[in-house]
Amino acid sequence: MKTEILNATDDSLEKAAWYLKKGEIVAIPTETVYGLAGNGLSVYSVKKIFEAKGRPADNPLILHIAGVNSLYEYAEDVPELALRLANRFWAGSLTMILKKKSIIPYETSGGLETAAFRMPNNKWTLELIKKCGFPLAAPSANLSGLPSPTCAEHVYRDMNSKIPLIIDGGQCKCGLESTVITFTDNGVKILRPGAVTVEMLREFCNVSVDKAVTDGLDGNYKALSPGMKYKHYSPKAEVFLVECDDDDKFIDFVNKNSDKNTYVLAEKSDGIRANILPYGETADAEASQLFSSLRKADDLVADKIYVKAPSKEGIGLAVYNRLIRAAAFKIIKL
Ligand code: TXA
Ligand code: MG
Repeated sequence: MKTEILNATDDSLEKAAWYLKKGEIVAIPTETVYGLAGNGLSVYSVKKIFEAKGRPADNPLILHIAGVNSLYEYAEDVPELALRLANRFWAGSLTMILKKKSIIPYETSGGLETAAFRMPNNKWTLELIKKCGFPLAAPSANLSGLPSPTCAEHVYRDMNSKIPLIIDGGQCKCGLESTVITFTDNGVKILRPGAVTVEMLREFCNVSVDKAVTDGLDGNYKALSPGMKYKHYSPKAEVFLVECDDDDKFIDFVNKNSDKNTYVLAEKSDGIRANILPYGETADAEASQLFSSLRKADDLVADKIYVKAPSKEGIGLAVYNRLIRAAAFKIIKL
């Protein structure tokens, strides 16, 4: 199958809607990462998504909706808190797990009684959902295990010849996947951190963070979010997360332990005698460049990547969560 990349326009959206209504799957832009979308109510379409990604069938998909009201069509109970959070953070990077209605097939929910919902902040994708009239099930549009795609080119690399169409909406602004939350007796629990941070949610309710966000899962702990148990975000190179508060110490360590195929994620090259991969100066910039730099490392055939562990505050927690998985939980403490 030939994979076409079309800029987001009214015409390309028409084409995407045509494919989606036929049960085909297409890649769509969102503010977080690109999604691989299909009709979330169709077993036929959802199976195509799992197949194209090589994704385990027990890892559920997020349903993308175009407005808060759609929650009442697809979710069994909508807690008052869910409504308040949706009104504050949608359209945006917040995914809420709710009890699903039976119209949502178990193939979409990975066999669970719950389903994940998000209203993405991208005008083209919102328009597309409205044109389709059904929720778009969309995981990140990467092959399972690889870093999520933050531009159409990344999607093409992973999905070329597997899907008919990629809608190119430019670079994703956020660059990390959405925050995934579930509701508890007195608030919410974060299963995957993203741009809607712990601090932002705390203005509304009690917030706890699932153990799997920062720690490796031991055999006894069941991941609340199935996605957390799989190896993720991994480039081919070995990634090392270096914990240290002192920049000079970090630079010294990198210089002593690098060879010609070693790369460092760093905002600037000051004193570093290893290859540099672009990384931001602020936590937001780190988030937006992380996945593209990990992909670039593969293009450059890097064999080792060093990166300084970020602070776990704000969006830093999300960056830390992706990095620690990319590093397969290897931390070097200086
Ligand atoms: O920003 C995003 O969320 C992107 C864009 C495309 O919207 N999508 C995305 O989807 O990252 P995906 O499939 O790569 O990640 C969805 C995560 C997985 O970790 C999955 O296990 C979890 O959400 N999830 C989905 N439904 C769930 C459920 N019912 N219960 C627990 N976790 C769920
Ligand atoms: Mg993903």
